[in-house]
Amino acid sequence: MSPNLLEIPSHAAPAAPATRPLVDSFARTIDYIRLSVTDRCDFRCVYCMSENMNFLPRADLLTLEELERLSAAFVARGVRKIRLTGGEPLVRRNVMELFRGLSRLFDRGLQELTLTTNGSQLARYAAQLADCGVRRVNVSLDTLDAEKFRALTRWGDIAQVLKGVDAALEAGLKVKLNCVALKGGNEGEFLPLVEWAHGRGMDVSFIEAMPLGEDAAYNIESLLPLDAVAAALAERLTLTPSTHVSGGPARYFDVAETGGRVGFITPLSQHFCDSCNRVRVTCTGTLYTCLGQEDQTDLRGPLRASKDDSALHAALDDAMRRKPRGHDFLAQWSGALAPSARHMSTTGG
Ligand code: 5AD
Ligand code: SF4
Repeated sequence: MSPNLLEIPSHAAPAAPATRPLVDSFARTIDYIRLSVTDRCDFRCVYCMSENMNFLPRADLLTLEELERLSAAFVARGVRKIRLTGGEPLVRRNVMELFRGLSRLFDRGLQELTLTTNGSQLARYAAQLADCGVRRVNVSLDTLDAEKFRALTRWGDIAQVLKGVDAALEAGLKVKLNCVALKGGNEGEFLPLVEWAHGRGMDVSFIEAMPLGEDAAYNIESLLPLDAVAAALAERLTLTPSTHVSGGPARYFDVAETGGRVGFITPLSQHFCDSCNRVRVTCTGTLYTCLGQEDQTDLRGPLRASKDDSALHAALDDAMRRKPRGHDFLAQWSGALAPSARHMSTTGG
């Protein structure tokens, strides 16, 4: 595997210093946004959604033009990386228009445009994404077992996802797999997943399931601390802490036998808030400065109030002043009740 796997793509223009960078009251610079473009999804993962989800009325969503304008405003403030999320970003109608629009921001300092996807539409879009300057994608894949996949995603078809992964690799995209570890859900699947992924040049990150969404069929009983995952892998593989950092919260390990890497994202059992460099924007234009806190700022109002961006920038300044120091899911989590009624599909994964 190339050691440059996660490097910033070389087509990016050198970043001019932002005139008013986004710096919060703990001196953390925000240069990364995760932008949800829809709350809809063609899957119903048990830890993410209930089977009968009520989705937002379309009029509440930011239009593609508004999403582009908002992104441009963030890039003007020093944001260098944009990740589109959902729901499933590729089920948003005409989403490729947005990708094309955002690809123009490479000339204004954007260095990376990427997405997190369930892979169901990748076979159709991978080549176009590559044309828009996307160099890496995160694909959510919790198991290679077709039946377990169906049970975890309720509606998903693994064959379609695997076709999507192949298409992405063929288009030259670097693919990283995200696997949510669930007790009683995909235990026993971790080693085959890692071996399969590494055999194709893909890294794998394991994610602790987070208590998001009050009616998701998931509670603290399903929490599988990732040290259990690491221990299971270490029975067969040699894991050495990697010096690699991706700009995200994962801690990486090199795997001697495969030459690949595994990452662990542990929002519950370990905090990574001190080095937080990101904020999230929902598909309705609400800015959340912390995944685990309710602090929010409406950006749709200022976007729609005027063609001029000054109110929007003032709202961003205000949000920076209020960004919380961090979250503590375990402390907030009493029994089976999730602390946040917000679904991952609203906030963006
Ligand atoms: N906890 C952890 N990860 C989650 N995801 C969705 N819901 C949760 C949750 N409750 C993951 C998806 C995907 C990314 C968008 O977020 O599996 O990898
Ligand atoms: Fe869809 Fe991703 Fe949520 Fe699964 S985790 S339902 S793929 S948004």
